[in-house]
Amino acid sequence: MIRGFGLLLAVLFCTCLGVHRENFRTCDQSGFCKRHRNLQPGTSDYVVQPSSLRLSKTSLMVDVINTKNNVRFLLQAYGLQHGIFRVKLVEAEPIRQRYEIPIGVTLVAEPEQVELVYQGESNGQLKFSLGDNQMVINVNPLRLDFLINNEPVSSLNAQGLLMFEHTREKRPTKEEADEGTNEEGAAEKEEEKPSDDEDDTGMWEETFKGFSDSKPNGPTSVGVDIAFPGFRYVYGIPEHADSFALKTTKSTDPYRMYNLDVFEYELYNPMALYGHIPFMVAHNDKHTVGVFFQNAAEGWIDIQSNIADKSVFSNLADFVTGNTDVPQTDTHWFFEDGIIDVFVLLGPGPKDVFKQYASLTGNTPLPPLWAIAYHQCRWNYNDQDDVRTVDQTMDKFDIPFDVIWLDIEHTDGKKYFTWDGSRFGDSVEMLRNLSSKGRKLVTIVDPHLKRDDNYEKYTDARNQGLLVKNKDGNDFDGWCWPGSSSWPDFLEPKVREWWADQFSLEKYQGSANNLYVWNDMNEPSVFNSPEITFPKDVRHLSGVENREVHNIYGMLVHQATWDGLLKRSGYKERPFVLTRAFFAGSQRSGAVWTGDNMGEWSHLKMTVPMMLSLNLAGIHFSGADIGGFFKNPDSELIARWYQAAIFQPFFRAHAHIDTKRREPYLLPEDHMIVARDAIKKRYSYLPYWYQLFYESETTGMPPMRSLWMEFPSETNVFEKDDQFMTGN
Ligand code: GLC
Repeated sequence: MIRGFGLLLAVLFCTCLGVHRENFRTCDQSGFCKRHRNLQPGTSDYVVQPSSLRLSKTSLMVDVINTKNNVRFLLQAYGLQHGIFRVKLVEAEPIRQRYEIPIGVTLVAEPEQVELVYQGESNGQLKFSLGDNQMVINVNPLRLDFLINNEPVSSLNAQGLLMFEHTREKRPTKEEADEGTNEEGAAEKEEEKPSDDEDDTGMWEETFKGFSDSKPNGPTSVGVDIAFPGFRYVYGIPEHADSFALKTTKSTDPYRMYNLDVFEYELYNPMALYGHIPFMVAHNDKHTVGVFFQNAAEGWIDIQSNIADKSVFSNLADFVTGNTDVPQTDTHWFFEDGIIDVFVLLGPGPKDVFKQYASLTGNTPLPPLWAIAYHQCRWNYNDQDDVRTVDQTMDKFDIPFDVIWLDIEHTDGKKYFTWDGSRFGDSVEMLRNLSSKGRKLVTIVDPHLKRDDNYEKYTDARNQGLLVKNKDGNDFDGWCWPGSSSWPDFLEPKVREWWADQFSLEKYQGSANNLYVWNDMNEPSVFNSPEITFPKDVRHLSGVENREVHNIYGMLVHQATWDGLLKRSGYKERPFVLTRAFFAGSQRSGAVWTGDNMGEWSHLKMTVPMMLSLNLAGIHFSGADIGGFFKNPDSELIARWYQAAIFQPFFRAHAHIDTKRREPYLLPEDHMIVARDAIKKRYSYLPYWYQLFYESETTGMPPMRSLWMEFPSETNVFEKDDQFMTGN
């Protein structure tokens, strides 16, 4: 184990550059991804039973049957305020309850329902209207079309790729079944026996790089295609290091959504990164439409740019007439677990979609003014003297800053909420010095707890039974910065409360009211586990597997930390918490950064599409490490990075422990002046930034905007991601 960890650290710290792709699954190495991706467009097996239609004033319910295996489903649809349809598809009689994300986690509250008018059935279609928008349910096969003023803008299952793997008992393998034929119950066993054309491979167990995933519930995935007729471009579904306008995935893997700690991530590919938001926006010169697929499990999305098949929508009025080809983007979404829960946001313009999305998942609370000013960070400021020197030298060079950060080395042996006494023996004095100039300190608090009997946070969590379990029911033990560690189960409200309490001044000894927090490694990162994260069959206290909830874990760490700082101030102060992992709703608890980028020009360029995607998906308070985390950028790149970053929402310089020191005053004078002028410009724009964050909080409008958000009918800017707007 120790050797393995040493090797792992060697990989983490080696100067060899490049992502270790082999650590992460490709679609081909993932059973459910392959099963969905192998489906071919065609007539869907899912059929609606219109006679079962039940209506209420704001919603409908109708039975759906998979005609291939007679499994029954329930389709529910709701009309929601601001022009949103919600569509849910669940099994009618599951043998096991599937996970549904509780209200307050992604959805800020139960969405307010409004009147959904049933217009009747004709031509095998059930028609509904919601203000100027319509929803049409095609009965056989099941297809759902969404229209703005009678023009189709989105369609579910138009390609017939809907696949809902129903809950089931494990069947005996062919060999087991054959063996059992002489025993009692042989007839039943014969029935259960897999036929020759049914392949169970990978459904009840999978291995990856020698790690076995026990998959006790078997295949549980869900997926459906979502078309955007009339749209050439779709955006969103962060976080990927890729262009803002999403690319066709014909010759690559699908875009993956699975929160992962990807060391030295590559640019321009669809690999998963630290956080994910299953929210996509389609935009053309007439309409902007959003789709939010609420599902916390691992997901993949295929994208193809096509020409619309007008015949599909032929019996819907007003679909773009004439002979010209109409572009269409076809997308295909699939998740390893959970249910189909899709929100269709019918704009019709960009501002409407942002307002609609914020009405579902919440707003970015106005940050304190200092939090949008300049943050000085590195891994690590070594001791109190170092902190004092940076603080004084910034003043000496007349470079404004508001916040200095301490990375993992400030702790006693990577035990968060503690201080390394030899280097930070009087943290309170340090905090007081900073406070005398109105400055703040941010310390890192990661969610892994060192398994050390002398570490009170760990023993307390262990003794109270607050830790995530392995598949055998024991506290999960994995490796992170401190070595052997365990993780609190943030899915449990009582664990979040326990965590929040740790930030009180009594419990976080040596802290003060001007100390704020940085949550890192919260995907979570587990060095000795498959794909550097929890094994999928890790158990949460409620009994759910991590497979069902993986992508919300990091957000719940962030939310609990936020609650802790709120509580510390008696609910009077606006907190500040930075997170690396995130999900839909993370905007409610502070800032996000784009993780471990590199000190290269290409990474500076990538900050724009990455942050545009984050801003589009509600994560407004976001930024990238100025200068790049890895490598030693030259002084020109550093100076240019400051110049660009002053127009991006979260403004922090950060660097890896192995890099040369690069506080702005260390730059050669010409570049120091460029960087200082940029930082001062940021300060001169703070009132504007503050105003933009106020606008964000009150309207859902992102502070960092693509050009089409301001000029929605300028078709030639739809692909632009080397330019952006700060506000309007
Ligand atoms: C991770 C973070 C990075 C931090 C380091 C040490 O790599 O992404 O920002 O400095 O851990 O805590």
